[in-house]
Amino acid sequence: MKKRIGVLTGGGDCPGLNAVIRGVVKAAIFQYGWEVVGIEDGFDGLMAGGRCRQLSIDDVRGILPRGGTILGTSNRGNPFSRPVKRGGMVEYVDSSDEVVERIKCLGIDALVVIGGEGSLTIAVDLMKKGVPVVGVPKTIDNDLMETDVTFGYNTALETATDALDKLHSTAESHHRVMIMEVMGRYAGWIALESGIAGGADVILIPEIPFDIQKICQAVEKRRNNGSRFSIIVAAEGAFPAGGMRVVKANADATHMVERLGGVGELVAKELTGNLDMDVRVMVLGHLQRGGSPSTFDRCLGSRFGVKAMELVDREEFGSMVCLKGREIGKVPIEKAIKQLKVVDPAGEMVKSAESLGIMLGR
Ligand code: F6P
Repeated sequence: MKKRIGVLTGGGDCPGLNAVIRGVVKAAIFQYGWEVVGIEDGFDGLMAGGRCRQLSIDDVRGILPRGGTILGTSNRGNPFSRPVKRGGMVEYVDSSDEVVERIKCLGIDALVVIGGEGSLTIAVDLMKKGVPVVGVPKTIDNDLMETDVTFGYNTALETATDALDKLHSTAESHHRVMIMEVMGRYAGWIALESGIAGGADVILIPEIPFDIQKICQAVEKRRNNGSRFSIIVAAEGAFPAGGMRVVKANADATHMVERLGGVGELVAKELTGNLDMDVRVMVLGHLQRGGSPSTFDRCLGSRFGVKAMELVDREEFGSMVCLKGREIGKVPIEKAIKQLKVVDPAGEMVKSAESLGIMLGR
């Protein structure tokens, strides 16, 4: 009997997910002779009422340039802590036994989890219950340890850099301060790299609490030197020294993590009060997660998918595929989720930005 692999995409979507799915399916069928079951909407697909379907070569034809995920995803469903309404109250129940049972019933011999820190944590917990798991690191935030880069990040950077190029001309024409707020959760990678690539004047990242007076001085200095506009990139997780992160919505029964957003407006308010200049805010938002993956992400996602299938076939469970230098490798998933990979405030990239004259909020 043919062996069967299950594949799911969990957490927020990102460009390149379909490349990974296609890589897994092609390698499974062509190289190893396994069957593939696609699990829909992340771990939800393994819970009561969840849906799964067999994936053939036909199912992955033409999906390489497509954004999103053909399997659907969810950043809500955690089988170990599922919100259930009882008598008007929300209780959290552990449905992981049901999930393990479902995996058995579906005849799944191994599970490939394509996800970020949240989904990979669930994967490790399932592994502890006997489910053979291999992980693939996904997130536009690039905040996973043990891999030089996650797929999706490169495309998000391209989108953010393109937006900065476009903001430049309007900022310059109107002599304005334009603030662009980008995603990244608690890591400043997207802000820092797109800011350098897009020629930002100020970059605010969560790893360096900012001083609003110093930002005002930097903008003033530029104006006095003849540059009557400034471009500020603010990571959604950036916050003022001695202040708090701006949270749009707290974690609750349906959203497992808090939603960040609003720091751009906060900075704009302060600048407007301190400077005699027009200030505008642009929140780039989910555009960063959408669209066709870049060449880099298509290639990385494809290589990750193939490697994941190789690890499954070799029964190297508990591993996550990774990129080290130019090589695809593997690391224990548990090592990758121990802590988030954030920007080093004293590191080369921050120093290079400062040497380029970019103000980092300090
Ligand atoms: O982790 C990816 C990410 O896009 C973060 O950068 C952002 O904070 C979050 O997801 C947004 O999540 P949602 O799609 O639930 O608003």
